[in-house]
Amino acid sequence: MIEPLSILLLGSGGREHALAWKLSQSPHCQALFAAPGNPGIASVATLVPGLDILDGTAVTAWAQAHGTGLVVIGPEAPLAAGVADALSAAGIPVFGPSAAASRLEASKAFTKALCDEAGIPTAAYARFDALGPALAYARAHPLPVVVKADGLAAGKGVTVAESHAEAEAALRALFEEDGAEVVIEAFLDGEEVSFFVLSDGASALPLIAVQDHKRVGEGDTGANTGGMGAYGPASVFSPELQARAMAEIVEPTLKAMAARGTPFAGVLFTGLMLTHTGPSLVEYNVRFGDPECQVLMALMESDLVEILHAAATGSLAGQCVGWKPGVAATVVIAARGYPGTPARGGLIGGLDPAQREGAIVFHAGTALHADGRLISTGGRVLAVTATGASVNAATATAYAAIEKISFADGFCRADIGWREIERETMSGERQK
Ligand code: AMP
Ligand code: GLY
Repeated sequence: MIEPLSILLLGSGGREHALAWKLSQSPHCQALFAAPGNPGIASVATLVPGLDILDGTAVTAWAQAHGTGLVVIGPEAPLAAGVADALSAAGIPVFGPSAAASRLEASKAFTKALCDEAGIPTAAYARFDALGPALAYARAHPLPVVVKADGLAAGKGVTVAESHAEAEAALRALFEEDGAEVVIEAFLDGEEVSFFVLSDGASALPLIAVQDHKRVGEGDTGANTGGMGAYGPASVFSPELQARAMAEIVEPTLKAMAARGTPFAGVLFTGLMLTHTGPSLVEYNVRFGDPECQVLMALMESDLVEILHAAATGSLAGQCVGWKPGVAATVVIAARGYPGTPARGGLIGGLDPAQREGAIVFHAGTALHADGRLISTGGRVLAVTATGASVNAATATAYAAIEKISFADGFCRADIGWREIERETMSGERQK
């Protein structure tokens, strides 16, 4: 049993609003602070403006001064900057991996080398630090071919090239930057899922798999984004596939990280392609996904404070996570222009009537204008989230809520969850 805790959450997006919403419901949450937070988070937490969340010394000093019993790090940047290391060194429980363990996300080359060593299934690849050899390799590669920047690119630094000309253009663009490092890899064919596993450095506790819609346009077309919507659990990820992913991918990774003296503690976001030969690793992230986290939090029955505290303190063994029946879905409302330059400052209204439709409206890129009205500040602005007996039902609730929202600058995809809805329709017809 844990004592009531004062908790500090770092981050300001839709993922962090979902985490704050769930943390604040726990009887173990004595007080919740968020830096910098957003207007949605402010309804369940006290905002801490002005704390530099990339500065481990500053965050540690704040936590010490405020008797913080748990720090939850939402985004990857503070992790890569070593904020978890600074907190751990001061003896403050922190949910989120060390900078060394965060290389699983920060460096594709690191992850690929680890996969090679541990025999983890992933696409064949080669790494280049000069344009000439990269062009030669890409020209000889069968199509489609995948070109990626090495480093933190928030899922946007990837081109799946259908022609050699497209691959060349992508390489030329990446090598315009000095010191660029690029990975060229084989295309993996299949459905993609985001599978989340908690670890305390030794034990692993699988959560569920969620399917995200990364492309900006309906039918999964157009530019890559951070994610336009998601639903879960993803039924394509059967218990058998989950068991294989744990045995063939997650467990060998955790073992290899521990053996290197850089154990991974936090949430391992395993991006998997479900190919005809089984799950293959597309990428790791070292944090919850956004908007996948909104789906996970809407579905989670268990106490989030207990689970994250266990992961932060090496006591995950024996924990289990309970889920509500049914599914959850989230639809992102983005500002016109996203994922390019989004329109900013648009007025947002109707959130209370939207929530009365039975949805939860998580804030991502919002701010309060001086006159008290809510405005947009970023690419992804809101994540409208609902649960239901089916993806069809959950998305229907989310879209009914969106009808009540006024945001002239906004747009959303109208087909979130379409793959699963097709499967639901087909299985309904088979049962007739
Ligand atoms: P990443 O930055 O590695 O997460 O890649 C972003 C997105 O590009 C992934 O979520 C996939 O949808 C796609 N992608 C990346 N690598 C591959 C690959 N080898 N085969 C097919 N799709 C890929
Ligand atoms: N939705 C994908 C991500 O968080 O990277």
